[in-house]
Amino acid sequence: MNPNKALWEKGDFTRIAESMRESGEALVKGLGITKGLKVLDLGCGDGTTALPEARLGADVLGVDIARNLVEAGNKRAREEGLTNCKFQEGDASNLHELKDHTFDLVVSIFGAMFAPKPFDVAKEMVRVTRPGGRIIMGNWIPDDPTLVAQILRISSSYSPPPPEGFISPMTWGIENNVIERFAGARFPKRRYPSSGTGIRSIFQAHHQSSRLHSENTTDQP
Ligand SMILES: C[S@@+](CC[C@H](N)C(=O)[O-])C[C@H]1O[C@@H](n2cnc3c(N)ncnc32)[C@H](O)[C@@H]1O
Repeated sequence: MNPNKALWEKGDFTRIAESMRESGEALVKGLGITKGLKVLDLGCGDGTTALPEARLGADVLGVDIARNLVEAGNKRAREEGLTNCKFQEGDASNLHELKDHTFDLVVSIFGAMFAPKPFDVAKEMVRVTRPGGRIIMGNWIPDDPTLVAQILRISSSYSPPPPEGFISPMTWGIENNVIERFAGARFPKRRYPSSGTGIRSIFQAHHQSSRLHSENTTDQP
């Protein structure tokens, strides 16, 4: 079994996700979601950001490696009557089930950062985004003063060294890595004020054309 999948199916992330509904919703309000926008929420968990995207009228596909979280997401969407929000299993390193240039917006909030092979992840995110579309990631930043970054730093210092070749998810929080992985894409980075679970860093990488998307939204929440 894929160890990445086994890891995320082992626990019950919905218990943590329940504490993030408010910040997820606030974050989504700043993403420029419009009715009918085709959104891929990658590493979506049980829909902390996917459901708010759908509530704003987007046509949302949530993809996650953990079957239990996909089931939980579909249940939440069903219970809310959101027919424009579907969840399915998939691996951010290899989205073979998704066609090229399908989505206007690919969102991954602390999701795809956990997939192995970060260069493949970036390639797949770009492949499924339509030319001129947007890719938005929220990634933990190593040694950031926020709670989660500190917990990860402390726990890793007490853990055995990772297997050879392992690339830490935290490397997605280093700007130069993001630039390298999205090869040639230009992106503005916004730092959001800390709220509840910590600072969210939003990296927006623009597809192929490297055209800088003009931002007219104010930082929030
Ligand atoms: C910290 S949770 C975040 C979930 C959700 N984005 C949220 O904000 O609540 C990380 C998520 O990434 C998923 N994940 C980990 N590796 C993945 C992979 N290779 N492909 C797709 N999803 C993955 C996990 O199953 C989990 O749902």
